[in-house]
Amino acid sequence: MLIVEADANAVADAAAERLTTAIGQAVAQRGDAMVSLTGGETPRRLYARLADPAQGWRTRMPWDRLHLFWGDERHVPPEHPDSNYGMAYDAMLRHVPVPDVRIHRMRGELPDARDAGREYASELRRAFSAAGRADLTFDVMLLGLGEDAHIASIFPGSELLNGIVADPSLTGQPASDSVPPAAGVWAGHLDAWRITLTPRALLDARAIFVVVSGAAKADAVHAALEQPLDVRRWPAQLLRAAAARVTWIVDRAAAARVRDPESGARA
Ligand code: 6PG
Repeated sequence: MLIVEADANAVADAAAERLTTAIGQAVAQRGDAMVSLTGGETPRRLYARLADPAQGWRTRMPWDRLHLFWGDERHVPPEHPDSNYGMAYDAMLRHVPVPDVRIHRMRGELPDARDAGREYASELRRAFSAAGRADLTFDVMLLGLGEDAHIASIFPGSELLNGIVADPSLTGQPASDSVPPAAGVWAGHLDAWRITLTPRALLDARAIFVVVSGAAKADAVHAALEQPLDVRRWPAQLLRAAAARVTWIVDRAAAARVRDPESGARA
């Protein structure tokens, strides 16, 4: 589904409402909500709204029933200004009562990002099993979108796309609990390591919300939703494999190149 809002503030409001509703449904059905957060700047507004005592979402959110994870992390310590965990902590976590044991951050401080990826894969399996889950299906997956149409830290040309290019619907891909659900990857264009969930772990989520704002993202949104399939060039096209479970929440500026408002609903 594609929802177009007036501006970044309206995107944050719409995302806060839909996330809170989806998380509440997960808790009602399964007792907990396994939620993956995104990094970058776009979600900062959203996190601040969720934590704001003047907003209704803070009182509605079942904070003590959440297990929070991240879709990706930079290869930096949590106190580093680039840390996705650090941004979520400053904007939201330090203001709300999520028990520390339910916050599962990627340890970007480890010297080797590949070790951090392997460690996170183990932590996912431990935390989901401890929560009584039979597999690694997130209840809610929050994503942003890069100007190059990357999601999480799955960038154009990523090694994580190798097995998928020929099978973008992921039909042949093993379930995320049998392949590493997280990995440390080298992002050559950034000259930096990243830690990221891998495609299946991202795309198997029951509900996926992609929040996008700003004219700089218009090409990426158009590519993700409407360009001919080329996941190596535009990794966000992977989301087409989960179309029925994906809600794009985009402002007018970022939606400027979308021709067909229904395009967000098609695989
Ligand atoms: C990150 C994110 C990344 C982000 C996009 C958009 O670590 O940067 O996880 O996937 O969602 O790059 O970032 P902005 O919201 O800052 O534009």
